[in-house]
Amino acid sequence: MNVEEFSEHYQVRKLTEDDAEIVFSLCKQNSLFYEYCPPFVTIESICHDMVKLPPKKSREDKYYVGFFDAGRLIAVMDLIDGYPDTQTAFIGFFMTDISVQKRGVGSGIVSGLCAYFRAHGYQAVRLGWVKGNAQSESFWHKNHFVETGITYDTDGYTVIVAQRELF
Ligand SMILES: CC(C)(COP(=O)(O)OP(=O)(O)OC[C@H]1O[C@@H](n2cnc3c(N)ncnc32)[C@H](O)[C@@H]1OP(=O)(O)O)[C@@H](O)C(=O)NCCC(=O)NCCS
Repeated sequence: MNVEEFSEHYQVRKLTEDDAEIVFSLCKQNSLFYEYCPPFVTIESICHDMVKLPPKKSREDKYYVGFFDAGRLIAVMDLIDGYPDTQTAFIGFFMTDISVQKRGVGSGIVSGLCAYFRAHGYQAVRLGWVKGNAQSESFWHKNHFVETGITYDTDGYTVIVAQRELF
């Protein structure tokens, strides 16, 4: 996958531990998210998430990427290629900078990403949100993600699995 093609509007590249500080600056402003998905973000948790993988996936499938606008990080996404099946891309995490929120930036990035995967023959994009987090739920509904009926309980909260079909 060529991550530069994830967006027509922003510069996209993989993030590394060297970027942990700027990711932290973006994440720590989004305190509401961590009320539903504790514990609160740290540099260490970001570095851990940068390499975390679901079962049976390898490093080559992992795309922890940043979206930059004129050099400034405005969104972070953790994407797994081919999970849970080869036809599906999985968004493990997505967050925009609080200073750009509510202006269509997040939706624009998700539309661009879905267009990329559709063009590459994928069937669906899948993700999960924490039950009760109206911000996440509303955002993903607005972006045409529909509950699959699958939920799972983890670390004191429930995750609702949703999917957007690309065809
Ligand atoms: C959810 C998020 C990615 C949206 O980014 P954004 O750049 O504001 O995206 P958009 O402007 O395209 O979409 C805004 C939509 O998000 C939802 N939303 C945002 N803030 C909200 C809030 N406080 N309460 C309810 N819905 C909210 C609404 O559906 C809103 O649409 P509206 O403006 O028509 O009401 C951003 O708020 C964020 O990073 N939140 C914290 C992390 C998170 O929840 N990520 C998603 C789960 S992994």
